[in-house]
Amino acid sequence: MSVCQAQPLLNRKIMIGISGGIAAYKIPELVRRLKDWGADVRCVMTQGGQAFITPLTLQAVSGNPVHHDLLDPNAEAAMGHIELAKWADLVLIAPASANTLAQLAHGHASDLLTTICLATAAPLLVAPAMNQQMWAHAAVQANCDTLRSRGVQIIAPDSGSQACGDVGAGRMPEPLTLRDVIAAALTPVTPVLAGKQVVITAGPTREAIDPVRYLSNHSSGKMGFALAAAAQQLGATVTLVAGPCQLPTPAQVKRIDVISATDMLAAVEQHIDAADIFIGCAAVADYRPRQVGADKIKKQHDQMHIELVKNPDILATVAARKNAPFTIGFAAETQQLEHYATGKLQAKKLALIAANNVSDSSIGFNSDDNAMQLFWHDPAGQIQQRTLEKASKSAIAIAILQHAAGLMAATSSQP
Ligand code: C5P
Repeated sequence: MSVCQAQPLLNRKIMIGISGGIAAYKIPELVRRLKDWGADVRCVMTQGGQAFITPLTLQAVSGNPVHHDLLDPNAEAAMGHIELAKWADLVLIAPASANTLAQLAHGHASDLLTTICLATAAPLLVAPAMNQQMWAHAAVQANCDTLRSRGVQIIAPDSGSQACGDVGAGRMPEPLTLRDVIAAALTPVTPVLAGKQVVITAGPTREAIDPVRYLSNHSSGKMGFALAAAAQQLGATVTLVAGPCQLPTPAQVKRIDVISATDMLAAVEQHIDAADIFIGCAAVADYRPRQVGADKIKKQHDQMHIELVKNPDILATVAARKNAPFTIGFAAETQQLEHYATGKLQAKKLALIAANNVSDSSIGFNSDDNAMQLFWHDPAGQIQQRTLEKASKSAIAIAILQHAAGLMAATSSQP
């Protein structure tokens, strides 16, 4: 395995500023996940941040001293605020409290973190986290607008139940989402999908047998979620139709959760009219039970039979539409990759198919890496192919979408 491929942030210097907020409890996890990807992480804490987690915790997980004093001669002698500001390739403030946002917006240098933010030339990302009422306050929003106008990237908070008991927007995104946002910020890409609408299916589907049992598969949803994050990074507006999977929603992606193949098709059909690109990445169950038991089926006989009926093929349904979007499919195979993938390219009338060998456990399903073979028709109708060597699913997702954008541009420029 190539270290570079599995560690997209190898040797990148990430500074995390932690201000006061209960979401600070997620930061040790973020630090560990950044280190998994090869990053060197240093943490700077405000006084408020230290009320929620300890410097010792962050020192242990980052393997670096934690910084919190601006006017301490000993701390300055070790690594002063200017040195820290120059050290960072990227500064992320997470959680960013309403107070820290206000301090930054007004250019205060009242503690080590705000001073570093003034002194650094590195990109600054902030992940606000606070009570929904505070987040909605005009003063907080105005401070965010000011920061945006200066090139600061504000990572929109998630909505949901909050530690204080309220429900609404203000939750800090999960560590894996923040890691993706950091990786994207450090890997600038040409926005080849700017102005495009992309609909993606991801994850498994669950087909109910009775109220407590279902048929499903091992899809983790990681590839589909990586495609959603990548499409957003490349400038598209993204709708992600996700089967049941435990993955954080990529930043600025609209997520629709569904359970069964029938639900998934309905959600796709609701959003497909405006789509320029459709990516069927879900591992849709091929069959579902003909009848769903109204009550739990009791254990009675030595054998039981469940009659299955075929599920709709979502990808083929979209590709068969009049004015179909550019349609991309996936083929997870254990043998004869090219034969089956090109068969599906033709049978489902796809513009592009990405195939991988799922019998290799280091790629596919639950892995963070993948390797792909792309197949498509050239203008003369001949099948062409390209290999995407093993890399993180995020890198593979970017490569697939860049390839698709190239094919779309070539088609639209044809006389
Ligand atoms: O035919 P097969 O299931 O191998 O095709 C895989 C491709 O078709 C994937 O892109 C998958 O998302 C899509 N698919 C679908 N609806 C189905 C079955 C597969 O969209 N019912």
